[in-house]
Amino acid sequence: MAQLPNSLEARDSAFQLHSYADARRQEETGALVIDKGDGIYVEDINGKRYIEGMAGLWSVAVGFGEKRLVEAAVRQMEKLPYYHTFTYKTHGPSIELAEKLVEMAPVPMSKVYFTNSGSEANDTAIKLIWYRSNALGQPERKKIISRMRGYHGVTIASASLTGLPNNHRSFDLPLPQILHTTSPHYRTMKKEGESEADFAKRCAQDLEDLILAEGPETIAAFFAEPVMGAGGVVVPPDGYWEAVQPVLKKYDILFVADEVICGFGRTGNMFGTQTYNLQPDMMTLSKALSSSYQPISALLINDKVYQPIADESHKIGVLGHGYTASGHPVAAAVALENLKIIEERDLVGHVKAIAPTFQKRLAGLAENPLVIETRGIGLIGAVELTHEALAATPGALGAKTNAMFHEKGLISRNMLDAMAFCPPLIITEAQVNEMFDIAEAGLKAVQDSM
Ligand SMILES: Cc1ncc(COP(=O)(O)O)c(C=O)c1O
Repeated sequence: MAQLPNSLEARDSAFQLHSYADARRQEETGALVIDKGDGIYVEDINGKRYIEGMAGLWSVAVGFGEKRLVEAAVRQMEKLPYYHTFTYKTHGPSIELAEKLVEMAPVPMSKVYFTNSGSEANDTAIKLIWYRSNALGQPERKKIISRMRGYHGVTIASASLTGLPNNHRSFDLPLPQILHTTSPHYRTMKKEGESEADFAKRCAQDLEDLILAEGPETIAAFFAEPVMGAGGVVVPPDGYWEAVQPVLKKYDILFVADEVICGFGRTGNMFGTQTYNLQPDMMTLSKALSSSYQPISALLINDKVYQPIADESHKIGVLGHGYTASGHPVAAAVALENLKIIEERDLVGHVKAIAPTFQKRLAGLAENPLVIETRGIGLIGAVELTHEALAATPGALGAKTNAMFHEKGLISRNMLDAMAFCPPLIITEAQVNEMFDIAEAGLKAVQDSM
């Protein structure tokens, strides 16, 4: 991409440091400037239209250009554009949204704590877990276990939870209290001759071995996404959650389900927790909560977590935690309207109805010789690519394929050499086919060029 002097691209590169980009490459090539969106499509400043096959960042559930969300924001802006939830004050939208989320929760939850990003929700979860351990007179119970390839965010604690090398390298992370156990990716993690069922059991055994090695009395919580997203869309093998959850129960370890991607329909149920019959003590929610029209996230905690925290705050006289924008009224109003749309249009039923087409077309990509694996559930999936010519540079084939998809009008995202698909939940069956037709043609073009 040439950057003309004073173009938006050139000004962007001149003034903005970007996330998940090589800053030197950014200086040279610039970024794609997206200008507007409608439904499952976005358009760049040159008028080129793309299917947003990632729903932005796994998040725009109701699609782009949803007027009801705009109107909800305007109504709230006009009435009360900002207020906070500190020091015994509150406001209507945060109350309504908290009540709604406790009602919607798939397992009994007691309280909601609002934050502004998935990272902050997970960071707050860790702080509250530590606070609770102290409240319970168990100051040694501070270690947290997450999984390799898990993604939980980028703040100091949540980046530590994230089990991806590039989120740690040169950042001096992870924090020493945060440990990582085996990723549930069968193809790459299985041992010679190990069946999928045996692999699922071994993941649970690896977890238990880690707990025992560290001392069960030192482990406070386990964080996991029901289906891993940004680590490459890793769908756990059958039997995985049935084997892992009893280990947590056995050692009285809190389970935090990171539903930041799975929450609100993505896996074909309202929550990934339902898809896998999970029993979390805490849940973190964001993204599809507001379809990312406003930054908002929520941490749900059950009574077992809440009560000691309440006692400790009473002992100290205050819960010394809070974000200026916690439960922001405009974000909360938008989230409420977004949840109304998800329910009124039965987007969960819609996902269930079109998931078979989505998964069939995803699996069909395996006909291309570059594809070594497809994996997915509901309306989320990935294809893993390989080619001997690029095998020495992980991510090179993914980047090449990404560029080809862009050229053909599809925004996907390569996580190294895995191409992810996670479109808005409103996508129609015809649009699912349109998306995978482009992916098929894109893969063929990449294959032909090798
Ligand atoms: C499962 C999961 N948890 C947490 C996060 C972090 O959210 P945020 O980028 O809003 O901080 C993400 C972001 O992609 C995520 O996918």
